[in-house]
Amino acid sequence: MNVGIDKISFFVPPYYVDMTDLALAREVDPNKFHIGIGQDKMAVNKKTQDIVTFAANAAKNILADEDKEQIDMVIVGTESGIDESKASAVVLHRLIGIQPFARAFEMKEACYAGTAALQYAVAHIKSHPKSKVLVVASDIAKYGLASGGEPTQGAGAVAMLVSADPRILQLNDDSVALTQDIYDFWRPVGHDYPMVDGQLSNETYIQAFQKIWEEYQSRHKKTIADFDALAFHIPYTKMGKKALLAALEDESPEEQERILAKYEASIVYSRQVGNLYTGSLYLGLISLLENGQLNAGEQIGLFSYGSGTVAEFFSGKLVEGYQQQLLADIHQKQLVERKRLSIAEYEAMFNDVLDADIDSNYEDSLLYSIASISNTVRTYKEK
Ligand code: CAA
Repeated sequence: MNVGIDKISFFVPPYYVDMTDLALAREVDPNKFHIGIGQDKMAVNKKTQDIVTFAANAAKNILADEDKEQIDMVIVGTESGIDESKASAVVLHRLIGIQPFARAFEMKEACYAGTAALQYAVAHIKSHPKSKVLVVASDIAKYGLASGGEPTQGAGAVAMLVSADPRILQLNDDSVALTQDIYDFWRPVGHDYPMVDGQLSNETYIQAFQKIWEEYQSRHKKTIADFDALAFHIPYTKMGKKALLAALEDESPEEQERILAKYEASIVYSRQVGNLYTGSLYLGLISLLENGQLNAGEQIGLFSYGSGTVAEFFSGKLVEGYQQQLLADIHQKQLVERKRLSIAEYEAMFNDVLDADIDSNYEDSLLYSIASISNTVRTYKEK
């Protein structure tokens, strides 16, 4: 049975910081951010927008009424949970009107959780071919003002509808996962920002890809030549490229050029958004599909990485007519219509955090946003 991604869309908040502005404010050469890190813009959100509102705004783009009737599972992958107990997927389930007889839950393992959710959804569809699963990867990547990780922040969500006979990407049954107990990036309960050993996280990411890629090649007898494109988890766009270059070392210049051209297509959106944590690989996939001029039948390899660490490499085949399912116009309009914040506005927005212990009402023009806090409960509204 063919199972995979039937529809896919992303949502990012309507504000961004230009990386030249940030570099100048932090007295850093702007080339460090644009070239060294590979980021041009960074998505920023208001306190009335959280992982639930991102998820609802992204899901709205892909769900028809018949999908809402057929979906029997809603999974949110996130590392920016808003409750230690209740899953954001339960709130999302109601907000977007999924039929009641469904499972809804959250998955966690840093940036890997979106992939865990996707693989769980695929397994579910294999035993229930008539159902559909909504998988959303939603996060706010925040490291702190003037912190080392600041230029690699971002925010937003990717929503995917997983089904049998998918119309975009049919997933192959070839995934290889790797788990290693390493503290490269983690966020203890109660901490607003993650603890991060930046250089260790870079090294661990590259080594995880190398280990997994070697194992994948040996298990499946495949090489780079078997892929038309590779997409990576993109904490910042230079990161995936570093891992890719290490794997391409022994390839011919033509082969390197072929794969690197597709990598560039996969980072067009991330360059303008920053890190989405769980959603980053899938934002890269959308960017690749919408900018990479791939043909039906072509094979895409996907590398997922979550600090801590779990990594996975898997692949999929593009379905005939997949282009008709893409929402490039919506995505590009969304990016273009964002407001550029001054650094003073960004810092004020960053510091203006929601206090769950203070009852308040809020205004926000987004389709889905937080309307109020009452007795620590967030109430969401649809415009
Ligand atoms: N012009 C051009 N390039 C320049 C430059 C200039 N003027 N100045 C510096 N650079 C280059 C550096 O040479 C370096 O390039 P290479 O990595 O190719 O050597 C690059 O800019 C970055 O410079 P530094 O390493 O000095 O940067 P830094 O110490 O400020 O830290 C960082 C960078 C580690 C990514 C940091 O931003 C960070 O900690 N980010 C958060 C953690 C992270 O994203 N880790 C990624 C792997 S973990 C993961 O993937 C999970 C996840 O989502 C978090």
